[in-house]
Amino acid sequence: MDTGQVFLIAAVVLGPAAILWAVFWTRQSRARKPAALLGIPPAMRPGAPDEKLEGPRLERVQIGGVLSLLVLVPFIVFYWLPERERQEAFAERFEHGSVERGELIYNAPPPLEEDISAVQFKEEEKALSLGQGCINCHGPEGAGGLANPAYRDPATGYAVAWAAPPLNNVFTRWDDEIVRFTIERGRPGTPMPTWGVEYGGSMTEMMIDDVMAYLHSIQVPLEELPENCEDPTKTDQLTCGQEIFEVRCAVCHGPEGSGREGRGTREQPWYPGMALWKGDVRHLPAFTGRDSHYITIVNGRRFAFMPPFGEAPAQGIPLPPNPLTEAQIRAVMAYERTL
Ligand code: HEC
Ligand code: HEC
Repeated sequence: MDTGQVFLIAAVVLGPAAILWAVFWTRQSRARKPAALLGIPPAMRPGAPDEKLEGPRLERVQIGGVLSLLVLVPFIVFYWLPERERQEAFAERFEHGSVERGELIYNAPPPLEEDISAVQFKEEEKALSLGQGCINCHGPEGAGGLANPAYRDPATGYAVAWAAPPLNNVFTRWDDEIVRFTIERGRPGTPMPTWGVEYGGSMTEMMIDDVMAYLHSIQVPLEELPENCEDPTKTDQLTCGQEIFEVRCAVCHGPEGSGREGRGTREQPWYPGMALWKGDVRHLPAFTGRDSHYITIVNGRRFAFMPPFGEAPAQGIPLPPNPLTEAQIRAVMAYERTL
């Protein structure tokens, strides 16, 4: 606060106080009426006669009322006119603060030096207390990376490189509910830890709100599908199927649908994607009538973390943010069946 502000506040608080004191003192020192001298309480003294009460005195009171109304009306108008703007500015400030905290949560806390000065500590305090280190696995600004430390496969004992998906496009796959569900509970059986405090993690609900606000703020648009694949029936269906797969599906199913089954070699074991599936879809009937391959892609499997891709999935399944047309789904199916 600078001295100008101090003086302003002093003037606003002390000014009226001084005026009230002045009024009090002048009234005190005025000659007191006989009734007051006798100590008769004001309520028991005889009132003024009607001629006095209803004469000029009444008019004075009425004029006073009209004048204060004239002051009050514009005051209310001027107070409330900018109210919407003020509230919007508040919402914006809250949102901004949430994103800022979310970024600190997403990043790793800075190392705490032993002989840090109080001033330096104050600067780093928030980052130290909020940092959860999503960045260690999901990469800077949600670009994606590998689980760190590497995941040890309980079946083989190998340390495998497990892809931590990019989060700067997570909302092109999922709605807020699934993203929150995943952050709060983690994904058991994968390196994604549990974060929600209700499930034994380290993040309060507000921290999860904040990190989600941050994720929303770093979203990049999804890679476009090639133009000639808008209607794959007119072009080479398999080529389109492959391109659609790479843009939309490979993030989870791994390149060429190798999924988690692609264990690599003993020297270099790796999991290139996050789905358990390696592209073997032959057990899923694809003929009309029992078309479970098609239905799986249209509806997804919400809580098994396969997103829906149909333009109109079954009732109760949220509309996907980036739906595929029926012909595109058929193309990607055809490609999958060649893998
Ligand atoms: C967010 C990650 C994710 C994305 C993106 C994704 N999938 Fe999946 N998918 C999964 C998971 C996880 C499963 C396994 C679900 C289960 O356990 O039932 C799965 C299962 C499937 C299955 C069923 C496999 C089986 O053996 O039953 C098919 C078919 C499939 N996905 C096709 C696709 C296609 C086609 C796309 C792209 C248009 C796609 N997926 C995009 C995660 C994903
Ligand atoms: C130890 C590594 C690790 C850390 C730390 C980590 N994650 Fe993950 N996360 C993963 C992996 C691996 C997956 C994919 C799991 C799978 O295979 O299904 C994942 C999946 C996710 C998903 C789902 C993505 C999708 O497309 O389905 C979200 C959202 C997510 N993480 C958010 C976070 C947030 C927020 C944090 C920090 C609070 C965080 N993660 C910290 C490894 C990690």
